[in-house]
Amino acid sequence: EQINKGKYEHYMQKEIHEQPESLKTTMRGRLIRGGSCKAKSVLLGGIKDHLKTIRRSRRIVFIGCGTSYNAALAARPILEELSGIPVTMEIASDLVDRQGPIYREDTTVFVSQSGETADTLQALEYALENGALCVGITNTVGSAIARNTHCGVHINAGCEIGVASTKAYTSQIVVMAMLALAIGDDTISSQARREAIIDGLFDLPKKVKEVLKLDQEMKDLAQLLIAEQSLLVFGRGYNYATALEGALKVKEVALMHSEGILAGEMKHGPLALVDETLPIVVIATRDACFSKQQSVIQQLHARKGRLIVMCTKGDAASVCVGGSCRVIEVPQVEDCLQPVINIVPLQLLAYHLTVLRGYNVDQPRNLAKSVTTQ
Ligand code: G6P
Repeated sequence: EQINKGKYEHYMQKEIHEQPESLKTTMRGRLIRGGSCKAKSVLLGGIKDHLKTIRRSRRIVFIGCGTSYNAALAARPILEELSGIPVTMEIASDLVDRQGPIYREDTTVFVSQSGETADTLQALEYALENGALCVGITNTVGSAIARNTHCGVHINAGCEIGVASTKAYTSQIVVMAMLALAIGDDTISSQARREAIIDGLFDLPKKVKEVLKLDQEMKDLAQLLIAEQSLLVFGRGYNYATALEGALKVKEVALMHSEGILAGEMKHGPLALVDETLPIVVIATRDACFSKQQSVIQQLHARKGRLIVMCTKGDAASVCVGGSCRVIEVPQVEDCLQPVINIVPLQLLAYHLTVLRGYNVDQPRNLAKSVTTQ
């Protein structure tokens, strides 16, 4: 029954729309509401016995490929904030190519929907040889990564069939946010922040439901972009990952060139591409980077950029200089959870672009759901 398309035409569409439910399943039994004498907290059974070791580690190293890498990138800032431990990012194949340094004092976190990706598995073997603690975050119980890591957390997003990962991405971010909460659990100074995030997690499925209402709006936008050759997506901070992941979705299913760009790097190259024809999505929802993104919008506008701005509900007037851009308004959540909300309109956009362009949504050409060869 789980692998039935139900009322949907495609698995990708179904999986995008079931995110309010998949996120609930991911969090089920893991968030503790707290009470009069008990603090709000998270319980991740699969790693609880290793938390002390993780807290003492010299680095946390996230390792993954494709969407799983992007999910880890989205969670990196909150993990750094709540753990105080340096968090570095590794694309699995690149770590193996470089034979980059991995130490006994490192905690390596392997993120993989399938748990079977060859590059990620090879990086895992390498980390095990180097004596690091290896944590697995997968969607597949009994998978090679789940079996061969020392401990881990299943994301419990349910079976994902569409080659382009959607619901696994949002569940991965939530699991890594919970991981950050669990690691930071012994720090009194961040307790209020942690409690606000936990409240935000409880609320998240409802907010995702709300953002899914943008479906028709994203279909209209897809109609406008149907014949374009390229789409840029600018983000920074928590939403740098959203830019990369949004562009990856458009590229892999709609077969349109798309590039996610760190907005802070705009002046160091990408600005040369800006003209009145190239569509650019700028993610400018409210967080500590908001005013910097406003300035990015102004600079793009000054070069007559064709802007589509994603902003917090009610912010259209403050982000849209001269009223000339198209706006996607999304509900606001706790800053570190905002990537879960912000990716949804871009998933919908990629989906509709693909259908309108007449391509295969669930099995894009040349791609496989699980890449088990190198
Ligand atoms: C393939 C899939 C992607 C996925 C990546 C990593 O390239 O097409 O959707 O993100 O592998 O897969 P994993 O199962 O390790 O998350």
